[in-house]
Amino acid sequence: MTRCAVLTAVGGYLPPTVVTNEDLAGQLDTSDEWIRTRTGISRRHRAAPGTATSDLAAEAASQAMRCAGMDSVDVVILATTTPDRPCPATAPTIAAKLGLGPVAACDVSAVCSGFLYGLATASGLIVADLAETVLVIGAETYSSLVHPDDRSNAVLFGDGAGAVVLRSGETGELGALGPFDLGSDGSGRDLITVRAGGSEQWAEEPGSRMRDAYFSMSGREVFRNAVQHMNRSARRVLDKADLDADQVDWLVGHQANARILRSLTDSLGIPEERSISNIDLVGNTAAASIPLALEHGHREGLLKPGDLVLLTAFGGGLTWGSTLLTWPALAR
Ligand code: UT7
Repeated sequence: MTRCAVLTAVGGYLPPTVVTNEDLAGQLDTSDEWIRTRTGISRRHRAAPGTATSDLAAEAASQAMRCAGMDSVDVVILATTTPDRPCPATAPTIAAKLGLGPVAACDVSAVCSGFLYGLATASGLIVADLAETVLVIGAETYSSLVHPDDRSNAVLFGDGAGAVVLRSGETGELGALGPFDLGSDGSGRDLITVRAGGSEQWAEEPGSRMRDAYFSMSGREVFRNAVQHMNRSARRVLDKADLDADQVDWLVGHQANARILRSLTDSLGIPEERSISNIDLVGNTAAASIPLALEHGHREGLLKPGDLVLLTAFGGGLTWGSTLLTWPALAR
């Protein structure tokens, strides 16, 4: 037995406003039929203007802390593409909103793979004995990043937050996390991007197009890369653990598109019924996608203590990551 990070609680929060495909079809040149057949999404939640990522994150984190029966943690890590502000990081704001005192807090930026990077960072802190407990949150307000007239992306993304609490424990325990596989390919950075607003292209630069300040994605190419990298990353993590795909009880893949998840289960040889999916209800919630899918699987009673769960994500960067855990007995 060696020291490792153990998942001990999960929480999730979706802002109350629901936007259906029919609602979007009334505003954009799209249809419920196109959205459902191409993506599997039927609705998504939208944060009200003035609701920041830290507000969603604090709600999900409170739920996770209640589930863990804890009122403090050593570290707060937020994975997000949509921080409250470009500077400072949002995690300290969340810690303050939760009344956690002067805890360590920072953001991790890896777009839709951010939560996997956050889990790996938290695990590293725990294994190195730098922390006993870490709150890892994935939270997004893509409504602030996607241009409302951009039909290609406006139909895909939703707002929300998911959170888990990790504590120190031992390999072999229920909830034990690992091994991990993480990777990136920066040559693909233009496939998922916001061009302006950083050091390379200032938001106010003369000639900067207004659209450059918004999210853009080359859907078809991203689709191909997503299946390929999640498949390879998931296989690498199974190899590291000396496990086969047929030993996996639940696949929790990044909820970007129901067709991507189907291609992924096909390529891994995992039956589709063993893939947890809530994309129809929430859309693509980027860094919040994996923890929200875990919270969904827990709430719906799909995830049972002792189940082997494979997590895999792909996102902008390009980035990807995977890990394994045995599902713990959690309070509901
Ligand atoms: O979270 C990070 C990871 N993200 C992803 O993994 C997303 C990956 N990509 C995808 O999920 C899919 O590529 C999309 C859902 C974004 C698009 O599906 P697709 O089957 O790849 O469609 P497409 O991009 O090839 O577009 C097909 C057509 C185009 O029209 P033409 O050029 O064939 O005339 C688009 O203009 O569909 C059109 N289109 C739409 N039509 C109605 C694009 N968006 C819409 C829309 N409603 N909302």
